[in-house]
Amino acid sequence: MYSVGTLSPFQSPTVKLQRLFESHEIEVFAKLDLLQLSGSTKERTANSLIESLLKAGTLEPGGMIVESTSGNLGIALARQSAVRGIRFVAVVDENANRSAIDIMRAYGAVIDVVTTPADGNKLAARRRRVQHLLTEHPGAVTTNQYGSPDNPDAHFRTTMPEFMEATDGRLDMLFVATSTTGTLLGCQRYLRQHHQETTLVAVDAVGSVLFGGESGPRRFPGLGAGIVPELALQADPDVVCQIEEIDMVRGCRKLARREGILAGASTGAIVTAIEQLLPQVQAGSRIGFLVHDSGVPYL
Ligand SMILES: Cc1ncc(COP(=O)(O)O)c(C=O)c1O
Repeated sequence: MYSVGTLSPFQSPTVKLQRLFESHEIEVFAKLDLLQLSGSTKERTANSLIESLLKAGTLEPGGMIVESTSGNLGIALARQSAVRGIRFVAVVDENANRSAIDIMRAYGAVIDVVTTPADGNKLAARRRRVQHLLTEHPGAVTTNQYGSPDNPDAHFRTTMPEFMEATDGRLDMLFVATSTTGTLLGCQRYLRQHHQETTLVAVDAVGSVLFGGESGPRRFPGLGAGIVPELALQADPDVVCQIEEIDMVRGCRKLARREGILAGASTGAIVTAIEQLLPQVQAGSRIGFLVHDSGVPYL
């Protein structure tokens, strides 16, 4: 499959929300990455990671990719691998969304489920399993979403230019959900390189250790991390919001019922984070956020 016409297959629409915070004098823009072909922002990341490996010759056409993923990157990698005739093994934990696994299988991926270790650190266990599989299959590669510069680069090259173009180059605040922090880093690099004064807000989960938080149980995939990934060392947001699970759900419901956008937990966390910061937001501010994925698999 390849793109025809002027639109890139990764371009997503941006909408201006009218009812989410209607009593506040702010403008709110949402970038609908839930409309990506694989259903999330990770479509961009997967494309960037695979393209880079193919260009470097580390991954051969017809080769094999092994990646640890909580769902969305796996779905995107599975889809992109199917298009390119690459074999894909998704290493997932027991928390992984059932429908995410079914979707990856539908694209032809092999699913490798890692049981939760005694210390409860699922992310570390998945990474150990990836290393094991790479040793077992010479020539196989991992896309290393936790450390590869091609992860943030996807958002530096595509997400941010699209978002800024859609909002006439002026956003006072940008809210991004964090796990590998790749999306946040790409946005951060773009904003700083373009001397934007946009306040960058990282939205994390309570129980995530990403920004000095205390480790605790997290039931929703896609938001937060149990260990600090390599990329996160470069993350330098202006504000960090840690959100409780119940408030992620509340945020999702509010977005669905006021704007008709049924988004996943990380986007629900963003809606709550905006709400929490509203008392400090100046009237007339322009706020942007990413709708990272769809809420349907979470139902
Ligand atoms: C739904 C969702 N939101 C946000 C994120 C965070 O993205 P990143 O890994 O770039 O920090 C992810 C990552 O998997 C995700 O799946």
